[in-house]
Amino acid sequence: MAIQRREQWSGRLGFVLAAVGSAVGLGNMWRFSYLTAENGGAAFVLLYVAMTALIGLPVLLAEFTVGRGARKSPIQALVHFGGTAWRPLGALFVASGFLILSYYSVIAGWTLRYSLVALVQGFGPQAAERFGEVATGWDAFGFHLGFMAITIAIVAGGVRKGIERTALIVMPTLFVVVAGIALYAVTLDGAAAGYRYYLQTDFGKLLSFEVLHQATGQAFFSLSLGMGAMLTFASYLSREHHLPNESLVVGGADFGVAFVAGLMVFPLIFALGLSQEVGESTVGALFITLPTAFGEMGMAGRVVGFVFFVALLVGALTSALSLLEVVVSSAIDAFGWPRMRAALVAGALIALLGVPSAWSTDILGVFDGIANNVLLITGALVLSIFVGWFMPDPMAEVSAGAEGVRWFFLWRTLLRFVVPIVLGVILVLGLPDTFVSIASLF
Ligand code: TRP
Repeated sequence: MAIQRREQWSGRLGFVLAAVGSAVGLGNMWRFSYLTAENGGAAFVLLYVAMTALIGLPVLLAEFTVGRGARKSPIQALVHFGGTAWRPLGALFVASGFLILSYYSVIAGWTLRYSLVALVQGFGPQAAERFGEVATGWDAFGFHLGFMAITIAIVAGGVRKGIERTALIVMPTLFVVVAGIALYAVTLDGAAAGYRYYLQTDFGKLLSFEVLHQATGQAFFSLSLGMGAMLTFASYLSREHHLPNESLVVGGADFGVAFVAGLMVFPLIFALGLSQEVGESTVGALFITLPTAFGEMGMAGRVVGFVFFVALLVGALTSALSLLEVVVSSAIDAFGWPRMRAALVAGALIALLGVPSAWSTDILGVFDGIANNVLLITGALVLSIFVGWFMPDPMAEVSAGAEGVRWFFLWRTLLRFVVPIVLGVILVLGLPDTFVSIASLF
């Protein structure tokens, strides 16, 4: 067999921006805002930060370690270190990639639609009716296909020429736009009420299992963990990289964008007295409330609305790249396909799987719940057990490029005991809710 050199990032910046691009997406703006609104504001934010630090970062570092160590796509990387018994975990990763991208792309399609609406006609009244029309059916499906086509084209372009180049261009733009809108939001009347709502803690909620459950799911979703996305990106790295530093940078940037996104979303909502609408716990809240706000703000609203939805769109795009790359790199390694064919076949199948989500936001919500509350948590749970207990020498792998770091034993201890116990409890206690939500569809 011909030995093909594995693709690599051009350097540190390319890798970090691609990984941050994966992490920062709809999760930071759409999901984070509506979960925060639903779960008691700052109580949720606090639990989310705690779960990110205690559970998210160790799992992120574990994914980086396995990926860079094996330099293979997820299934083969796990087999490389653990033997064929671990193949099902890799298969679970790939299946999660399929499911998540199928509905993620439908939401990304809404953002594509809204960007165009802002550009050509501006936002009018009756945002809720409008959302009902564009969010489901052929409209939603068409924009979902459009978004998938862009994603497929970039992933087909390769790691460096496709994924990395896109991240280098759009991520810095996204940071500037989000910070810019947050600064603009300070000037709005009613901004203070928005901040208060966002940052005032309902301490009672700190003890609620439901809030903890949502915060943990969000920590994984936002960091792109539990399905081998970060593992796959790290497989294109060389051994000089300081993995612990990279995970801190990625985790910090991801939290930073989510936090600032809250500073932009809540003042906008409260400035126009639309707060009662966020309480309605639908996945579409952000797509109804904000366009209403933009519509009432005249020309300024149109401009701000346009850059807002474009930021959401490009954030979604760099995340979708990582989701598709998991499936594509697996197909390349497993079947020896050229990248182009792998991207087309995987992308087409995922586009098809998006059909139910494009026709019903309820189904979309249930897919999102299954992915976050079951698949990602299971994936991360088994991966932490793998790295903590079964992988031959994770300490040697993680130390390459980071010699002399003294807290690695802490990382391993978290992976061995704390992460599996916390995730196991959350997984089991959360199952009834997931069943109820699935049953509610019928
Ligand atoms: N993290 C992304 C977001 O916040 C979504 C995402 C990309 C993702 N890749 C992932 C989620 C892998 C889970 C697993 O929008």
